[in-house]
Amino acid sequence: MSVNSNHQENKKICCIGAGYVGGPSMTMIAYKCPNLTIEVVDIDEKRIEAWNSENLSNLPVYEPGLSDIIKKVRHKNLFFSTNVKEAIASADIIFLSVNTPTKIKGVGSGKASNLEYLERSVREIACYSKGHTIIVEKSTVPVKTAETIKSILFSYLSKDSSNLKTYSIISNPEFLSEGSAIKDLESPDRVLIGGDDIEAVNQITDIYKKWVPVEKIIKTNLWSSELSKLAANAFLAQKVSSINSIGVICEETGADINEVAKAIGSDSRIGQKFLNAGPGFGGSCFKKDILSLVYICNFYRLDEIAKYWENVINLNDWQQDRISKLIIQKLFGTIQGKKIAIFGFAFKANTNDTRESPAIKISRNLILEGAHLNIYDPKVNEEKIETELRHSLSSSVNKEFKSTWVKNNSIEDSVKDADAVVILTEWLEFSEIKWKHLVGLMRKPSWIFDTRNILNKKDLEDLDINIWINGQDLKN
Ligand code: NAD
Ligand code: UGA
Repeated sequence: MSVNSNHQENKKICCIGAGYVGGPSMTMIAYKCPNLTIEVVDIDEKRIEAWNSENLSNLPVYEPGLSDIIKKVRHKNLFFSTNVKEAIASADIIFLSVNTPTKIKGVGSGKASNLEYLERSVREIACYSKGHTIIVEKSTVPVKTAETIKSILFSYLSKDSSNLKTYSIISNPEFLSEGSAIKDLESPDRVLIGGDDIEAVNQITDIYKKWVPVEKIIKTNLWSSELSKLAANAFLAQKVSSINSIGVICEETGADINEVAKAIGSDSRIGQKFLNAGPGFGGSCFKKDILSLVYICNFYRLDEIAKYWENVINLNDWQQDRISKLIIQKLFGTIQGKKIAIFGFAFKANTNDTRESPAIKISRNLILEGAHLNIYDPKVNEEKIETELRHSLSSSVNKEFKSTWVKNNSIEDSVKDADAVVILTEWLEFSEIKWKHLVGLMRKPSWIFDTRNILNKKDLEDLDINIWINGQDLKN
């Protein structure tokens, strides 16, 4: 059937899952397609309340530029609610943006994706949808998940022969990065749409065509689309582990990781992006998606391939432990009772997300060695830090847990009497610090550990402080 732009007129969209993907991606669609009405639903009442908050600094997701667009579309053609059933019933298109974390128990525990949230949503669609519905996988899922979705939906249809419900399943993985979500959504490198039903693929294409050039919209089959998402994250994470591995060699040999990154990145086949040495990758997806890939490899008995990808994660874990040990070693082998200022708790700059942040493991390691942490992050609140640290220290937490760290509201407060500053997130304000004054507030001999490689050693040369910068040989 031929396609025309009327496809979109007055269509209703429901997005299940109002998280880091559902919220921003639907905001962008609502903004670019005023003819569509979008309802983003979630079972988490607090999250929905926050999305509806009049005070835009209370939105549950911090993304530069997000609140400006929310202001324009919310309560016009974008709505947030907990009315899952009603939103499904009235939708022509349903985006699934629920979380797909790693399983923590049962078969495949520690590797396979936990699809319980996705399955629950699909069952709800089976119960409440009406007429023909296009279901779009936006969540990251293992290859062949569309088949599972079809089986669940089909099983409901077969129970009721008078049922007039029909479905098309489309894979449309999301490639946005946190911290630059709005920019990524507004001008994506590509939009990937996988599916066998050409009519449905075209309907989803029509949405994106409103602002994405057609040559950037890639149409493919379901399985290629699902696998491409996992593969893209695996490649990106591999690039981070690779540069981190080279950074360690730099420290041993006198090479400088910035110079090496520039030299290798100038090869257009390698590219300059994603070559920043750091404390290891964090975020909710790289580790989980590689683990999912590893599980798929194991399932197909591709053990060598599984091992290859698993090593990307092993190197990442090792890097976090290496940095923790290095801090302890430089502080004379003991940090018992010492104050350490942690600069940044988010897994990267420009986000309030702390999931899998390297700051969690490194902070945990330092607390277990007896340090007292003064934690400062411009966007992460105390409650989040507490949850992450409590969880990571679970078996070791005792009554004194709260006295092992404190959340500071300013950089200055966090460095008072500290023996060391550890920069863990590359927030712009950390590269703009005037160190002279701060160094004066610290206990001597004091240290700066720059795991993000954002400081310029020349600027700090005259200060009475020791410096370690990731991937640089400073002969300290
Ligand atoms: P998230 O945890 O921030 O949000 C998921 C939301 O789904 C939660 O608010 C949860 O309450 C809700 N939910 C779960 N089950 C539900 C149900 N049955 N009905 C209604 N709501 C339900 O997760 P996220 O970061 O937005 O990620 C979502 C998916 O997108 C994951 O598969 C992830 O891998 C993928 N992804 C994430 C990013 C990212 O930057 N975070 C980028 C690309 C892809
Ligand atoms: C990543 C991908 O970049 C997105 O394309 C993808 O959609 C998303 O995962 C997902 O599926 O969730 P995100 O995790 O938000 O996005 O952030 P990245 O910019 O990829 O950074 C991931 C981690 O790698 C961060 O901890 C970051 O600090 C680290 N990193 C990144 C480095 O240490 N060095 C680099 O050069 C780049």
